[in-house]
Amino acid sequence: MKTMNFTDLSVNIDKNGDISVQDINYTMTIEPKAPKLGVMLVGMGGNNGSTLLAGLLAHSKKLTWDNKSGNHSVKFYGSVSQFGSVHIGYDDENNAHSKLFKDIGVEDGWNMCSPEDLVIGGWDICSDNMYLAAKKAQVIDNNLLEQLKDDLEKYVPLPSIYNPDFIAKNQTTRADNTVKYLNLQLTLKHLVKDITDFKSQNNLDKVIILWTASTERFHKGNWSNAQDLMDALSNNNPEISPSILFAMAAAKSGCIFLNGSPQNTVCPAVINYAKTMGTFVGGEDFKTGQTKIKSVLVDWLVSGGIKPLSIVSYNHLGNNDGKNLSEAPQFESKEITKKNVIDDVVDENPILFDGDKPDHAVVIKYVPAVGDSKRALDEYYSEIFLNGKHTLVMHNTCEDSLLAVPIILDIILFADFFSRVKLNSKPFNTVLSYLSIFFKAPVINNGEPLINAFFRQYSGLENFFRILMGLPPLSQMFLIKRI
Ligand SMILES: NC(=O)c1ccc[n+]([C@@H]2O[C@H](COP(=O)([O-])OP(=O)(O)OC[C@H]3O[C@@H](n4cnc5c(N)ncnc54)[C@H](O)[C@@H]3O)[C@@H](O)[C@H]2O)c1
Repeated sequence: MKTMNFTDLSVNIDKNGDISVQDINYTMTIEPKAPKLGVMLVGMGGNNGSTLLAGLLAHSKKLTWDNKSGNHSVKFYGSVSQFGSVHIGYDDENNAHSKLFKDIGVEDGWNMCSPEDLVIGGWDICSDNMYLAAKKAQVIDNNLLEQLKDDLEKYVPLPSIYNPDFIAKNQTTRADNTVKYLNLQLTLKHLVKDITDFKSQNNLDKVIILWTASTERFHKGNWSNAQDLMDALSNNNPEISPSILFAMAAAKSGCIFLNGSPQNTVCPAVINYAKTMGTFVGGEDFKTGQTKIKSVLVDWLVSGGIKPLSIVSYNHLGNNDGKNLSEAPQFESKEITKKNVIDDVVDENPILFDGDKPDHAVVIKYVPAVGDSKRALDEYYSEIFLNGKHTLVMHNTCEDSLLAVPIILDIILFADFFSRVKLNSKPFNTVLSYLSIFFKAPVINNGEPLINAFFRQYSGLENFFRILMGLPPLSQMFLIKRI
C-alpha cells in the first residue's frame, strides 16, 4: 500500500468576501496492485468501440503495417495517460525533467493499468462481429485491419437493450441484436448477469462499464435519489433509458460506470444509486476535438483580458454518429453538452462580462461523404481595445474515432486508478471528477466547483500525481530562480 502524507492549502471566502487560508493535512493511500481489469463497452460495434478494440489488439501484438507514408506501429498519441507528462523540475542547467503519467509508481508497484492489460467485451444492438464493424467504420488502415481479421472476428457483441424512443429512428435497421424490453426489473437482472458472466469467464478482479453507444435523447425523469429510481424501475417508467439501465446494472455489480455520450445519464438519482452501492461514475460526452479546443481558447482569450462576443461552431461528419445526431432530440443532447463548456470561464470574470455571456451557437450536419473524418469550423469574435474587433477562425479536420479512442483509454485507466485511492481512509466521492478533463460536460459531486478550462483541469491532475511522487504542487513562480 502506497501512503503519502501531505498538506494542502485551502482558500476560504466567507459571505462578506473575507479571505482566509487554512492548512489541511491529508494521508493518501493507493491500493498497490493494478487489478486484472475488464472493460465492457456499450456500443462495442460502433466506430469508437471497434477502433478501441482493434487499437488495443494491435498494440498488444506489437503489429506494424505499411501504407503510402511508410511503416507504422501503434502509438497512443492523444492519450494523457500514455504520452502526457508530469513536470518534476529544472536541473542546474535549467533542463526540464518530467515523467509520463503511465510511468509514475511503476517502480513501487502502484501504477495505473496498462493498455495491454485490458480485457474487452460488451454489447451492441447490431450483431456484426468486430471485424465487420471495424471494416464498416472505415477508420483503420486496411493493411492493419486484415492482420487483425481472425482476432476481431472472435469478438461478437452481446445483445443489448434497444428502445427506439431514445436513439434516432434512422438507427432501426442496425437493431438486429436486442434483448426484449418487456420488464425493466428483468432487463436489469439480465445485464447484471452479463457482467457477472464476463467477469468470471475472464477471471477478472474488476470491470468498468463504458457507454460509447449512440447518443440518446435526454430522459425527462425527475428522480432525485436512488429510491426514486428504484420505484421508477418497478413501475416500468418509460423515461428509464437504456443508458440508465446500464448505469444501474454497473452499480449493482459493483462496477464503475462512465458515460461518453452527451445524454443526461449520470443524473442525481444515478449518482445516488451508485453511492448506495459504493461504486463510482463519470461523464458526460468525450471531450475530443472542437470542444476541447474551445476549453483552451476561450480560457486563453479571457485570461488575456479579451472579451469574446460570439462563438459559432459548425461541424459536419458522415459516420453513424453523425447520422444519429441528424435527428432533433439527439442533436439537442449534443448541443447542450457542447454549449456548457465556456460557462466557468465566463463566470470567473464578471467584470469583463458584466452580466453578459458570449452568443454561442452550435450546428451539426450529417454529410455521409466525409465518413468518420469530422470537419469543424469555429469563429471566435471578440471585442478588444478601443472597441476594435478580433475574429479568429479555425478549421479542424480529424478522424473522430482516432481522437476519441486515446481519451477513452485515459478515462478507463484514470477511473480505475482514482477508484483505488483513499484520502484520510475514505474513497473519493461517487463522481470521479478528476476525469472532468476528458468530458465535454463534466458531472461533479455536490459542493464541488465545476471546471471546464482545459489547463486548470490538467493542472489538477498533474498536481495530484506530483503529490504522489512526494513533490509539492506546481506553482510556476520559480522564485528561487528570480533573485
Ligand atoms: N468519436 C468522437 O470523437 C466522439 C466524441 C464525443 C462523444 N462521442 C459519442 O460517442 C458515442 C459513440 O460514437 P461512435 O462514433 O462510436 O458512434 P457509432 O454510431 O459508430 O457507434 C454507436 C454504437 O452504439 C450502438 N448502440 C446504439 N444503441 C445501443 C444500445 N442501447 N446498446 C448497445 N449498443 C447500442 C450502435 O449500434 C453503434 O454500433 C456517440 O454518442 C458520440 O456522440 C464521440
